[in-house]
Amino acid sequence: MKISVFGTGEVGTAVASKLKSLGHDVALGSRKERHDQQIPVLDHAAAAAHGEWLVNAMHGEDSLDVFPKLLLDGKLLIDIGNYRTAIHAPIEETLGESLQRLLPRTRVVKALNFVSAQLMGKPEDLAGHHSVFIAGNDGSARAEVNWLLESFGWKDIIDLGDLSACRAMEQLAPMWIRLNEKFHSVYFNLGVVRAAELD
Ligand SMILES: NC(=O)c1ccc[n+]([C@@H]2O[C@H](COP(=O)([O-])OP(=O)(O)OC[C@H]3O[C@@H](n4cnc5c(N)ncnc54)[C@H](OP(=O)(O)O)[C@@H]3O)[C@@H](O)[C@H]2O)c1
Repeated sequence: MKISVFGTGEVGTAVASKLKSLGHDVALGSRKERHDQQIPVLDHAAAAAHGEWLVNAMHGEDSLDVFPKLLLDGKLLIDIGNYRTAIHAPIEETLGESLQRLLPRTRVVKALNFVSAQLMGKPEDLAGHHSVFIAGNDGSARAEVNWLLESFGWKDIIDLGDLSACRAMEQLAPMWIRLNEKFHSVYFNLGVVRAAELD
């Protein structure tokens, strides 16, 4: 699969490395093209052209600026982003829903936005049961992302339905920061404990 990951920070490099290790044809999308990296770092337009699937590993505000300028029709966009402001202010319109509104011909799926970059491609590094959420308006796109997350090693993938679930998923950002400050670690996650018949 040809996949472009936008943003070369903690999340972008972690996800791109995992995708490459799984044999995908991966490129990173950046404000600054580079030619000396193991994974090609392309400018945003070239990265958009490369990927059949795209990953948003930029901050929410930046991604709203970057993606509408690109040709993304027919592609699937996995949105991992959060707004910087989500830490201290309520969200008026979620990032996932905003991206889908701005990109009506792109299938947006929200995923992994509560999970530490270090665990995204290595869920086994946390012992015990823990969960990841996905949401998207297109059921087949959610199924495709579910498949990708299984290939990352995720066992408990909870499909929350359409993108209105971003209102719950993105409001978790302050909780992530608070737990990070409490534990001085990124090795934690939520696990949804439930009755067996709910699986
Ligand atoms: N870190 C985590 O554990 C974690 C977990 C879950 C979700 N998230 C979310 O994932 C997103 C990325 O997080 P991160 O920790 O990887 O952030 P980060 O390390 O700051 O990386 C963000 C990247 O976005 C690009 N960028 C910065 N400013 C930009 C601008 N003005 N316009 C376009 N691109 C810009 C940069 O890449 P270039 O310089 O190459 O353009 C930068 O490396 C955030 O929304 C965050 O909330 C993070």
